[in-house]
Amino acid sequence: MLKKLLTLSITLTLSTTAIVHAKANTEAGKQQAAACAGCHGETGNSTVATFPKLAGQHASYLVKTLQELRKGTRNAPMMAPLAASLSDESMADLADFYAAQAVTSNEMPLLPLSDEEEDEEDEAAIELIKKKQQQKLDILLAKGKSLYLNGNLESKVSACSACHGVNGDGNQPASYPALKAQHADYLIKTLADFQKGRRSQDADNIMGMIAKKMTDEEIQAVSYYISVMNRKK
Ligand code: HEC
Ligand code: HEC
Repeated sequence: MLKKLLTLSITLTLSTTAIVHAKANTEAGKQQAAACAGCHGETGNSTVATFPKLAGQHASYLVKTLQELRKGTRNAPMMAPLAASLSDESMADLADFYAAQAVTSNEMPLLPLSDEEEDEEDEAAIELIKKKQQQKLDILLAKGKSLYLNGNLESKVSACSACHGVNGDGNQPASYPALKAQHADYLIKTLADFQKGRRSQDADNIMGMIAKKMTDEEIQAVSYYISVMNRKK
């Protein structure tokens, strides 16, 4: 009986510690995330389009990335000094916190207007410009969707969905990042970094090989598509 009671109390202690520990991680992460909120937003949903959203990102990818930033193998002058001061434990806590947040949807992207179009005052003409912009955007988003789901057979660009998932959810065990609803500006900059060899964190340089085969138009199209992936029309 005594033995039974003892094992019972041990199991109980173990399970409560596990729960308390898990809670402490996210809670500790939340507190530390105050230092990141200025750029990445309180819940990891940054409002500045060149600062990546972290909300809903896989913890495994966030930890791996923070380590790369700390080591300096990912070149990011604004982030590097911040990552340099983080311990392994802080990284895990922060990653837990951000992974548990929901990512927000983005507005539809706006295509740039020419000076003439911007100065237009005639209402009918403005309507026509808007219609043309919408058509251009629809074509670009369709191109982005096709590249994302099917790749480009001719230039041998792999389908993004193979690793990042049909809905942009990424792949947690493989540390392939989630992409859905990331800011288009950050995506365009990041794909250009991969393309020009300015960013290659993983030893296989998977993304560098893919981005090198992409045209600037494909980078823009796929980035716009990813940025509005989780929007309810
Ligand atoms: C001064 C602004 C600023 C602050 C403060 C800041 N960051 Fe960043 N962070 C950036 C920028 C800019 C990038 C994009 C770097 C790039 O272009 O490669 C980034 C990138 C990241 C990434 C990589 C995201 C991805 O999708 O690959 C992570 C993770 C990250 N930051 C975590 C943090 C954490 C955790 C903190 C707080 C300890 C923090 N950041 C504070 C500006 C900031
Ligand atoms: C074979 C698997 C694979 C395929 C296919 C793939 N990716 Fe990736 N992607 C990765 C890996 C791995 C990383 C992480 C790289 C790193 O940590 O440097 C990544 C990272 C990224 C990032 C950086 C995310 C961030 O938060 O900074 C973007 C953007 C991206 N991929 C876009 C794409 C697009 C667009 C396509 C399709 C044209 C694509 N990927 C196809 C594996 C893949």
